[in-house]
Amino acid sequence: MSPLKATSTKSPGSVRSLPSHVLGATNQNPPNVGVLALLREDLRIHDSKLFEQGFWAVAVHRFGNWRMSVRPKLLRFPFSVAYKLLYKWVEWTCGISLPYTVKLGRRVRIWHHGGMILHAAEIGSDCHIRQNTTFGVARTNHNFELPIIEDRVDIGCGAAILGNIRIGHDSVVGANAVVLKDVPPYSVAVGVPAKVIKTLTPLNS
Ligand SMILES: CC(C)(COP(=O)(O)OP(=O)(O)OC[C@H]1O[C@@H](n2cnc3c(N)ncnc32)[C@H](O)[C@@H]1OP(=O)(O)O)[C@@H](O)C(=O)NCCC(=O)NCCS
Repeated sequence: MSPLKATSTKSPGSVRSLPSHVLGATNQNPPNVGVLALLREDLRIHDSKLFEQGFWAVAVHRFGNWRMSVRPKLLRFPFSVAYKLLYKWVEWTCGISLPYTVKLGRRVRIWHHGGMILHAAEIGSDCHIRQNTTFGVARTNHNFELPIIEDRVDIGCGAAILGNIRIGHDSVVGANAVVLKDVPPYSVAVGVPAKVIKTLTPLNS
């Protein structure tokens, strides 16, 4: 994960001050791996089940990013139309909203499906996300103040992670937690509002 603080706009609602990744101007698929290899890896992490809804959400997300590297823009147009239709199809049939503007790491597992609004700035590699989770803004006029979820975070069902906050790597967010503040790495956070109840020991210490 990049050491950036979560995206913040100087004037809420202003599109001009947004960084390019939030505007979705570039291909943000993980570097140094082809899109087909990525898809194979995504399928593997979804237990090689082709009809797993989480796999489809991730696959359409990868496609949405891949098409941003198609130049010139005119050539990209049919891929963009296909992406927009597939994105809506995943929302309608799987109940998973994962826009291509989310910077998504590798081997992210989406367990089950339904009621998932995953509008984070970044979701790191090897994260697990369960049904009914919401990542997004804390207040309606705080456009694009989105959370960053670092690598290897395990997120319980029904959790809401809101605003310009960062969930540290190797943390666990309990079921139905409402997280409104930064969570340090190796933490277990539960409750409403979420509080850190434990610090985990790194495996290799
Ligand atoms: C948070 C979680 C991972 C447990 O972590 P843990 O470190 O093993 O924590 P413990 O079970 O020892 O619980 C510690 C305390 O937190 C409380 N707690 C645990 N999970 C909680 C939750 N989701 N919300 C509120 N409190 C919770 C426990 O009651 C306990 O409180 P106590 O000390 O007053 O008795 C687990 O409870 C959880 O929420 N998992 C989500 C998994 C999921 O979504 N499954 C759905 C699969 S479809």
